[in-house]
Amino acid sequence: MIAGALDQFGRRIEYLRISITDRCNFRCAYCMPLAGLPWLPREDILSYEEITEVVRQLAPLGVSRLRITGGEPTIRPQLTTLISMLEKVSGIQDIALSTNGVKLPEMAESLKAAGLDRVNMSADSLRPDRIREIARRSLAFSPIDAALAAERAGLGPVKINTVVMRGINDDELEDFARLTLEHPWHVRFIELMPVGEMAGETFDRVVPSDEILARLARIAPLSADAGPARGNGPAAYYRFAGAPGSIGVITPMSHTYCGDCNRVRLTADGRLRTCLYGDEEVSFRDALRAGEPLAPLYASALATKPREHALLQMKVGGLRALSEVGG
Ligand code: 5AD
Ligand code: SF4
Repeated sequence: MIAGALDQFGRRIEYLRISITDRCNFRCAYCMPLAGLPWLPREDILSYEEITEVVRQLAPLGVSRLRITGGEPTIRPQLTTLISMLEKVSGIQDIALSTNGVKLPEMAESLKAAGLDRVNMSADSLRPDRIREIARRSLAFSPIDAALAAERAGLGPVKINTVVMRGINDDELEDFARLTLEHPWHVRFIELMPVGEMAGETFDRVVPSDEILARLARIAPLSADAGPARGNGPAAYYRFAGAPGSIGVITPMSHTYCGDCNRVRLTADGRLRTCLYGDEEVSFRDALRAGEPLAPLYASALATKPREHALLQMKVGGLRALSEVGG
């Protein structure tokens, strides 16, 4: 395996998150407006061939793990075709998918057959009426059935990401945590970040991880844990004694983990972003379409990757929707 290239602070970059669409079949208020966002025109979005070409050029520079994100990636047609194209690129060792799970029951098997390794699912509630309220879409959908479908298809370890919002879904923390007593799933609680229409209320809604862990420790003692075997990201993990699954906390707001950041992002329209926060980005799409090599652009992007995000300083205004920047 080729070691990841180093950025200006000596962080090894081996993980590329690829947004393949800015569209979504949900309208979670912490992410996008009910009316949607001004969607990217089709011609601005990288084709599957172009995405694969980016990966072909970055793999020799040490990118070995990929995550397909959105928006909601499963709504872009022929996703399995992209997976099988990426899977063939030499040096790529792990391909994961982030999804809201709605399409997993029908798609899990074919995604696995195409070469997908595993999935992360978002689930902010286990209650049907509340799922509809948060997603602002009328759908009948069970996150548990979706996670089971992924597990059965061999897309494990299944990770479930829950954005915790005080007064909206924080009464379900314990229900989510108890899933790890029965299933080999890794439930990760994410602190709400200031985005879009919820940016102004973020500081009233965010539930700090220390509070989450204190609450869960009342169910049963929690010990620090190494977490799932595959995909090392920013979560800190814990486990109830004897539980098949683990509990993670992802704390963009209360403790930054930027010092260990190992990732960069490709937006659906082909911009490389070196940080979730900040405007540092270069257009890989323009370079590709002009027939120019990406390596020099990649090197200069890593040379300006910020030391850390500044989420806490951005009380109002907030981030661009994560659906635009590839979550
Ligand atoms: N705060 C925290 N996480 C967010 N995501 C999107 N918007 C936010 C936000 N404002 C992430 C979560 C969610 C996925 C769709 O994107 O992980 O589950
Ligand atoms: Fe879609 Fe995810 Fe944004 Fe919700 S948070 S609207 S599921 S991209």
